[in-house]
Amino acid sequence: MNIVIKDSFEDMSRMAAEEFLKIAASISHPLVCLPSGNTPIHFCRFLVDHFENIGAKPDWDFIGLDEWVGVPASVKGSCRYFFDEHLFGPLGIPEERISFFNGMATDLREEQRKAEAVIADHGGLDIVVLGIGANGHLGFNEPGSDVSLKTQVIDLEPVTLKSGESYFSGPRDMPTQGITLGLATLLSAKHLLVIANGAHKTTIVEKMVNGPKTNMLPASLLQDHKACTLYLDDAASGNLR
Ligand code: PGA
Repeated sequence: MNIVIKDSFEDMSRMAAEEFLKIAASISHPLVCLPSGNTPIHFCRFLVDHFENIGAKPDWDFIGLDEWVGVPASVKGSCRYFFDEHLFGPLGIPEERISFFNGMATDLREEQRKAEAVIADHGGLDIVVLGIGANGHLGFNEPGSDVSLKTQVIDLEPVTLKSGESYFSGPRDMPTQGITLGLATLLSAKHLLVIANGAHKTTIVEKMVNGPKTNMLPASLLQDHKACTLYLDDAASGNLR
């Protein structure tokens, strides 16, 4: 795993976005997977700025990383809403280029099957960008997740629900489950970029990089990935610098 540390959240997001754009440009119609949340805000903005500046649209196909079970795409706080607002809308990405978990589906197994089929048809994920959860989760793969799963529906930990509250506007009954691409899928991505910022991520980043590789801290499993770069701002990097 390579590690890049920049002074500011914006700078590390720009570096990650530039690297992402470079890799994406080297692949025809790459299948890409990006995270929602607080971490990728600047990252997405840099992608949008890039395409606005060159007056073009990306040729990428998108697959959703995860979604809250029981939350519709129209609700601010859903993962899909994030992308509509920060990426798909501004970039004008047509629906046929997007595959996303429907958190309202009555048959979640079918949602899993569809996502697995999209990835298999494409020959795997080309580029995956991930944030790191407060508990070291990747997507919604919480500690203890089975590393052999291609997708899963999972009960979310209290710490994940707590951080998730900030995504929703106003108080609501938090969903208790998530649907997510599984660790087997994410770990087999051809290129992985991981982004983390802020002092609240220092401890988990430290464990991810220097701790034992264990599915009890899913992000630590990235230590062995052949093409993974971790982008940190100064605050998240702790003693790593
Ligand atoms: P955050 O979430 O970007 O809002 O910190 C990261 C995650 O849970 O993966």
